Amino acid sequence: MKLNDLVLAQVTDMHIGASNAKYRGIDVRQQFINVLQRLAKKPLDLLVLSGDLAAVEGEPEAYTWIRRVLTTFPYPYVIMAGNHDHVWRMLSAFDLPNTDVSLGKRYFSRLIKGRRLLFLDSASYRVTKQQLEWLSGQLVESKNKNPKSKIQEQVLLFIHHPPLKCECQFMDEHHALQNLDDVWQVLEQFPQIKPIFCGHYHAEKTVIKNDKFVHLTPSTAFQIDTETADFSILHTKPGWRLIEWQGTQVHTYVEYL
Ligand SMILES: [Fe+2]
Repeated sequence: MKLNDLVLAQVTDMHIGASNAKYRGIDVRQQFINVLQRLAKKPLDLLVLSGDLAAVEGEPEAYTWIRRVLTTFPYPYVIMAGNHDHVWRMLSAFDLPNTDVSLGKRYFSRLIKGRRLLFLDSASYRVTKQQLEWLSGQLVESKNKNPKSKIQEQVLLFIHHPPLKCECQFMDEHHALQNLDDVWQVLEQFPQIKPIFCGHYHAEKTVIKNDKFVHLTPSTAFQIDTETADFSILHTKPGWRLIEWQGTQVHTYVEYL
């Protein structure tokens, strides 16, 4: 490992409810705690919570509970909004500044060890035009600043919804990002974006299109069968993704409890 190598973990779709009550018969709070305990033993630079932290509609009690649980987690973390989240309630519960919020959407970048991470807000099932303009601006800027540095030019992009169809029948048909063609068109313009990390689909999968790798990360709550037309839970083993960014290479893989 070199000094500026980054190790990230992504957990997603925890679906924590307002109370201890189980969600679809699953003890989602305990599963999340168990995942955090495993991740706490790894050498991480950052934990990314990539949306759908709350069970249904941004339950404030869920956010309060998650924040409390994370107080003992040994690494910094960032949170993103999913379609079951509520941006303003998140800000309030996690005591976050509103500087990353514009027109109700929370999208932001972070520079860690000189490496850029970008986070979009697809909670409304769309990535707004304003966000796409911001994203383009960020990528043009990073290129201009470091015209010769391949390492610094690369970025990692996180979006709750995958920006393309993934051959996951139920989710593609009923819960796909609504403006994915517009989003993909913008992403295509930027070779700095190679891996894209998503949640939402409750599945482990990597979809490769042109030179981009869209990585779907399983939920900490339950996984959805990708091959059935109707909603069907495949299994309830909690999963997460590790992302190791070493030199110009990004290695990523999924683990389950
Ligand atoms: Fe979602």
